[in-house]
Amino acid sequence: MRPAISSLLLSLSIIFIPGVVQRVEAANVAQGRHLAQLYCARCHAIDKVSPSPLRIAPPFRDLHNRYPVETLEEALAEGIVTGHPTMPQFRFEPDQISDFILFLKSLE
Ligand code: HEC
Repeated sequence: MRPAISSLLLSLSIIFIPGVVQRVEAANVAQGRHLAQLYCARCHAIDKVSPSPLRIAPPFRDLHNRYPVETLEEALAEGIVTGHPTMPQFRFEPDQISDFILFLKSLE
């Protein structure tokens, strides 16, 4: 009786774990998009087609043409500053950063 139950539990967890991982990842992308919407979208395009509201701000979908978006992790943690004075300085928390990078990758 007992071994049967534990092997049933084992197979249930094998079935469900991939589903859980996928759902967590989707939540992160949504969370990253939410951050972009909140802090960046008034200047940067954050979707796959629109021009940036502020024309000189690069659309986020183009960033990966300049450098791998992972290289932004450090900048986001330390406070991202660009040469352009119109862009305010931002600093993200570590979990926000991974959400945000994942979101940027979803635009590639
Ligand atoms: C007030 C407008 C404004 C807001 C808000 C803004 N940006 Fe920018 N951003 C700019 C401008 C303008 C540039 C172009 C700067 C330049 O070319 O020197 C830029 C450039 C960038 C670059 C490219 C830097 C490079 O050298 O490649 C990144 C990455 C970036 N912004 C990230 C963000 C993120 C992340 C947010 C939200 C947390 C954000 N920006 C919010 C105006 C803004």
